[in-house]
Amino acid sequence: SWQHVDHAGRLILPGFIDTHVHSPQLEVIGSWGAQLLDWLDTYTFPSEQRFADPEQARSGSNDFVDALLAHGTTSAVVFPTVHKVSVDALFEAAAARGMRLIAGKVLMDRHAPEALRDDVDGAERDCEELIARWHGHERLAYAVTPRFAPSSSDAQLAMAGELLARHAGLYMQTHVAENRAEVRWAAELFPAARSYLDVYERFGLLNERALLAHAVWIDAADRALLRERGATIAHSPSSNLFLGSGLFGWAAAEDAGVAIGLASDVGGGTSLSMIRTMAAAYQVQALAGTKLSAWALLHAATRGAATALGLQHEIGSFDAGLLADVCVWDWAVGPVAQRRQQIARSPHEKLFAWITLADERALVASYVAGRLRHERDAPAPTG
Ligand code: GUN
Ligand code: ZN
Repeated sequence: SWQHVDHAGRLILPGFIDTHVHSPQLEVIGSWGAQLLDWLDTYTFPSEQRFADPEQARSGSNDFVDALLAHGTTSAVVFPTVHKVSVDALFEAAAARGMRLIAGKVLMDRHAPEALRDDVDGAERDCEELIARWHGHERLAYAVTPRFAPSSSDAQLAMAGELLARHAGLYMQTHVAENRAEVRWAAELFPAARSYLDVYERFGLLNERALLAHAVWIDAADRALLRERGATIAHSPSSNLFLGSGLFGWAAAEDAGVAIGLASDVGGGTSLSMIRTMAAAYQVQALAGTKLSAWALLHAATRGAATALGLQHEIGSFDAGLLADVCVWDWAVGPVAQRRQQIARSPHEKLFAWITLADERALVASYVAGRLRHERDAPAPTG
């Protein structure tokens, strides 16, 4: 039977898609005073070690996917940790909520603490097992996940390329050219490569299912390569600001025909909210004299991201035949936003003011495949 729910006067959107986020890093969000490489050593790597413990991995993963839903994000492309159990726990949590989620075991066999390092053969066995268990199971898909070029040996990157060649339909996710010291380091470690991005090209990692986080410090040849391979940039503006990484060149990427998805990159990013992510993206481009429209911002967090992932038949819009991943929002929370919305005339003005002023407190309800999975003011679970 159908239940009638009245959301008149509210904003109803496709669930947001976060194209790059780290499940174990919720607890290091807002860590002070470091740029990328120090931030990894000081905050991130110690925290990720806790996911070796199955109990920690399970509770952390459940908290993480619940937090996504409480921010209006119904799909995500996620880095768990190097530990196999962190992948199982994350996929189990997503499956229990019916979510579309893409993830894979983080590959890192060097330049990381002992407790976070794998080796090529063990990692390959883990990946094969996880692919068999999860890829194509319910709404889940596997992504081959080398953390970033500096933390994988040549042999491990080659193994990652072989996995992609062996299994059709896998995704690939990694980081590229986020921070200037990181770019210099990658150049030292891979002297034969033309650029940081070219390292991934050389190991066969770039294709239309590849997601490259950041890509702040890339050049025209890199953009042409991304376009040619059909790969997507996961743009993470709050992370790029917070870690002092740099200002992403949206217009150059778009002009080169490269797909761009928006991403929170928590815990480098400062919020899981894709509304705040859109607002940060606008501000970063404003510094470069580019004024992104509210439509362009919303597109990159919904239909554009879905299309980049090859999932436009399932998520990202209200086209007929898609699954009902739907979030209901208030147009305004509090007197300032309410006044601003009263004054707004056009749909674009309303939506842009909402992007600038709203956050997860405006979320009323999240539905995944038509089922209510998060509700504001829901009674606290008992027992
Ligand atoms: N580069 C390699 N690992 C990471 C990470 O965990 N976060 C970010 N922002 N960049 C990375
Ligand atoms: Zn990241």
